[in-house]
Amino acid sequence: MKILSQTSFKLKINLNILCTLLCSMVLILISCTSKSQTNFNVVPAPVELKIGNGYFKIDKETRIVLEGVNLEKIAGLFNNYLEENYGFNLRVSKSPVNKNAIILNYERMNYPLPGAYSIEINDKQVYIAGDNETGVFYGIQTLIQLLPTKNAKKYSLPIPQLSISDHPRFKYRGMHLDVSRHFFSVEQVKKYIDHLATFKFNTFHWHLTDDQGWRIEIKKYPKLTSVGGFRNGTIIGAYPGTGNDSIRYGGFYTQQQIKEVVKYAADRYITIIPEIDIPGHSSAAIAAYPQLSCFPAETSQIPANTAWAGSREGKQVPQSWGVFEDVLCPSEFTFKFLEDVMNELVQLFPSKYIHIGGDECPKESWKRSAFCQQLMKDKKLKDENGLQSYFIQRIEKYLNKHNKKIIGWDEILDGELAPNTTVMSWHGEQECIVAAKQGHDVIMTPENPLYLNHAQSKHEDSVTQGGFNPIENVYNYEPVPKELTLKEVSHILGAQGNMWSEHLLNEKKLEYMLFPRIAALSEVLWSPKEKRSWEDFKKRLPVILERLDQQKINYSHAYYDLIGAALPTETNDGILWKIESNNKDGAIKWSYSSNSAMHDYHEAITVQGSAKGVSAIYIVNDKVVARVSQDFYFNKATGKKITLSNQPSSNYPGDGAFTLVNGIQNEKGLAWSSEFLGFSGKDVEAVIDLGKTEITTGIKLHAFEQQASWIYFPLFVNASFSEDGINFSDQIELKRTGNIYSAVIIKETAARYIKVFAKNTGIISIGNPGSGNPAWLFVDEIEVQ
Ligand code: ACM
Repeated sequence: MKILSQTSFKLKINLNILCTLLCSMVLILISCTSKSQTNFNVVPAPVELKIGNGYFKIDKETRIVLEGVNLEKIAGLFNNYLEENYGFNLRVSKSPVNKNAIILNYERMNYPLPGAYSIEINDKQVYIAGDNETGVFYGIQTLIQLLPTKNAKKYSLPIPQLSISDHPRFKYRGMHLDVSRHFFSVEQVKKYIDHLATFKFNTFHWHLTDDQGWRIEIKKYPKLTSVGGFRNGTIIGAYPGTGNDSIRYGGFYTQQQIKEVVKYAADRYITIIPEIDIPGHSSAAIAAYPQLSCFPAETSQIPANTAWAGSREGKQVPQSWGVFEDVLCPSEFTFKFLEDVMNELVQLFPSKYIHIGGDECPKESWKRSAFCQQLMKDKKLKDENGLQSYFIQRIEKYLNKHNKKIIGWDEILDGELAPNTTVMSWHGEQECIVAAKQGHDVIMTPENPLYLNHAQSKHEDSVTQGGFNPIENVYNYEPVPKELTLKEVSHILGAQGNMWSEHLLNEKKLEYMLFPRIAALSEVLWSPKEKRSWEDFKKRLPVILERLDQQKINYSHAYYDLIGAALPTETNDGILWKIESNNKDGAIKWSYSSNSAMHDYHEAITVQGSAKGVSAIYIVNDKVVARVSQDFYFNKATGKKITLSNQPSSNYPGDGAFTLVNGIQNEKGLAWSSEFLGFSGKDVEAVIDLGKTEITTGIKLHAFEQQASWIYFPLFVNASFSEDGINFSDQIELKRTGNIYSAVIIKETAARYIKVFAKNTGIISIGNPGSGNPAWLFVDEIEVQ
């Protein structure tokens, strides 16, 4: 039993507390005998939850009693929720009542992180105690999740009797939003903040500037928003786009609005960290003030393959996505500009952190600039990475003087960093490990699986950023890498989901990408590691979705998706198509094609030749909630054994080597990325065992290129043949034909084993997207005729 602190909190020992103590003793007695439940529908799962018997009913007579000080605002937020969702609210008072009360109070809990709370619910009252205000707020968020999602009688809301004791795992629980690629209004941002609060996030990373729009008013530089806040059009669809909508697009927040949003977030115990992304991703600022570029007189580069609207003269705000070479010049003009911007920024954001970006800064313009080359000599900088480091450090020192610490994307590790710099690790775990070993604090936000702009379904019906990132991948993410020592682990502050907005054309799409993955992420960040269970989360998820329905929030149904896996048969003579849904409440039916008879699905379907439109549907409560259809293309390699010398990157693992012979050809580009294997800087060497000696008349390797995403065709592809799987000969080159990303040979060769080798482009050369970085090599299917 917890001890009520008499020193830290102004507690009045009164009837109410006595009643609470007695009641909670009774409840604990009950709960000791009842089984501890983990599948209650609270997300993130609390540290301890014990279910009692029966219900407490919130009705119009229920009183919110504030026993702790300064809790009026939190009571008000709860009342707002009741009003919006159930059409009534409760009287708030400070005087005790002996039944039908929701009591808000404080108790000392001695956890290292703010936000601990407990809830005791019996038939007379709800008692919520927070270690501090934040804790009471989180207690209220939990209480909201106990409210009925449907069939509630008017003005009578039963909530289960239970006891909860809860506190967060990580100090930093963040979500990011890019408002540059697409702009979201103050009202929309506030709603986003509400969503974060629901799931007990405590940080909102507001990505306020990027190439495609500068979104925060800076009084000293009005053109940042009047010019840099607008573009003359936007490409349609995925890069490079099918055209340009030619619609002038933009917007920005006034400083008054920024203050309003900062306060709104603070009222929900959320800190806003603003990001001004420098020195790359700065085209919008350069369009407003061309002197920020090393080449102010040059016109903006417009990618040759993208459609453009309006003038091409001078510096333009980009209308397409990607990375641009015209970056901030490390001149005194630029530093003065940035100091002025930071002066205004630090007045607006009380956060102790300012995010200064630092990601994806191409070095081409610095290489071409006589000024930069001279500066590097004067400052004895080894190369352009050293120059980037010099750039970041100057801003860092300036912000440190204003008592702010910086956060930067992990590219800032390329140079020396001040020890108090926090690194946001987005490439993967390796960068995080390096940073933590150097003694930097780290926030984990690896693209896979914490970029929530990637597709969550294989059947997305609108454009998303390439990459497949289903909810279970998010759920199963563990922010603490195994490689770290205990001391290094203390540098992992937490993690963050990122929401890049290239394809978030409106708020509905934003909600769709956010939900329900934010619920999964919240559990990664809040719940104890040993408490996390995907199986248990799946049981709670349908009720979370019901609550989203109740609030008219647009969410992805991908959780119900039918997921087909093409697997080898025992004898490697066909494909087993296994179909599953994460949800187990319904029934699967399938057919050989979209217009043939339906069968009940019991076990994986055996496919033994090319087939179009093998289909399945998933029925829950008499409603078809998901469909899937698959074409299979058979050739001599389909279903056969295959081995790889190099393993693909963990970001694009497909279903392992078998992906290359599973009869499924990628027809949707990157959105269907689990049908690709992606190799970063590495070659592909695959050996297929045809099972017997065969005459081969042709080989194809399906590859993919999307230079804006640093994915390049192989330099060359060849195939060779073997009877024993060891000695390969008769090497033949495969040529790429047209734009179908395949290479073909025709040759009559008898062999059992075929080796296909594709040479990665290696380090991307100057002048190309991603230059200086390892190229991605993406391969899909190997066909043998
Ligand atoms: C990033 O995704 N460029 C941080």
